[in-house]
Amino acid sequence: MTHILAIESSCDETAAAVVKNGRSVLSNVIYSQIDLHTLYGGVVPEIASRKHIEKINQVIEEALKEAGVSLKDIDAIAVTYGPGLVGALLVGVAEAKAISFATGIPLIGVHHIEGHICANYIEHPELEPPFMSLVVSGGHTHLVNVSDYGVYEILGRTRDDAAGEAFDKVARAIGLGYPGGPKIDKVSKEGNAEAIDFPRPKVRIRTDSSYVSKPTGSPDVKSGAEREGEYDFSFSGLKSAVLNYLNSEKMAGREIVMEDVAASFQKAVTDVLVEHSMNAVREYGAKKFAIAGGVASNSSLRAQMKAACENEGIEFYYPSPVFCTDNAAMIGVAGYYEYLKGNFADLSLNAVPNLRLGER
Ligand code: KG4
Ligand code: ZN
Repeated sequence: MTHILAIESSCDETAAAVVKNGRSVLSNVIYSQIDLHTLYGGVVPEIASRKHIEKINQVIEEALKEAGVSLKDIDAIAVTYGPGLVGALLVGVAEAKAISFATGIPLIGVHHIEGHICANYIEHPELEPPFMSLVVSGGHTHLVNVSDYGVYEILGRTRDDAAGEAFDKVARAIGLGYPGGPKIDKVSKEGNAEAIDFPRPKVRIRTDSSYVSKPTGSPDVKSGAEREGEYDFSFSGLKSAVLNYLNSEKMAGREIVMEDVAASFQKAVTDVLVEHSMNAVREYGAKKFAIAGGVASNSSLRAQMKAACENEGIEFYYPSPVFCTDNAAMIGVAGYYEYLKGNFADLSLNAVPNLRLGER
């Protein structure tokens, strides 16, 4: 039996969990700082770090207690060491190193996005690589081929704002506050998604000699070199289109229906995410597709992606909302597969704020 104690502090959740044999979550304690950051309309890094240092011991104690284990039962400590806010990451990394130093329990550094992808293993014991995954969170938008445990090929990423960031910025613009994603999701249910025709953002596809604009996921581009960037995303143009719409409606003295703006924006984001994903599924012949990250709890994205996967005749996986947003259980799952490979860190482990997926 293998018990992993996992620690996550990359952004505004202070979290600890105990995971047994890789996929069984014995405890998953999350102290969310959202209320604190709501006052400022977004995450304030300094405040996040201070809160992490205040809460981390308590959260770990609770995780061990809830799991009914003590440090003597723990085989490895897995901790998120990047990407994320450096001051926030350092709290978790320093804590994990201190426990490892004091007890001799081996240490494992985990990539935060790998954690998000691994969240899918928790409730789907049958899910194993290879599969394709879309990671959509506040800081990341990645389309990834998972060819084996811990082996990732990034097919596309955002060129500017992450999907969650776009949700948060648009929510602020229409007065919904932080965090925007869940709020837009909620009010969209009262709105008409066809009311406003916001653009489905285009990316500039790299060719041998120049950049050309193509509709996202345009399937008519064939050569490998020509297709570079085909699965990249861009959300800042969509965000600007929403802001322009709000301004022009205000100037014209027309009433703005927030629910329609939210629903139409959400539909535009969802359309792009689903279209890119299914183009990649077809090109790479993926048989299974998993979504991950905070935005993966969005009801429109879940429904549309599920329908698209059914249409392609492939399996669709998504985590429960609590495992979509930041948590330590997912870090414990990712840590377990590193443990099996013997990928341990030493006490020189440091926070790496811009750590790339697949790097160690
Ligand atoms: O994965 P996560 O907790 O943190 C990062 O690693 O970034 O993701 C947080 C992001 C926020 O931008 C939040 O607005 C978004 O996920 N989010 C949602 C929903 N729930 C959370 N976006 C759309 N719809 C939701 N239901
Ligand atoms: Zn995250």
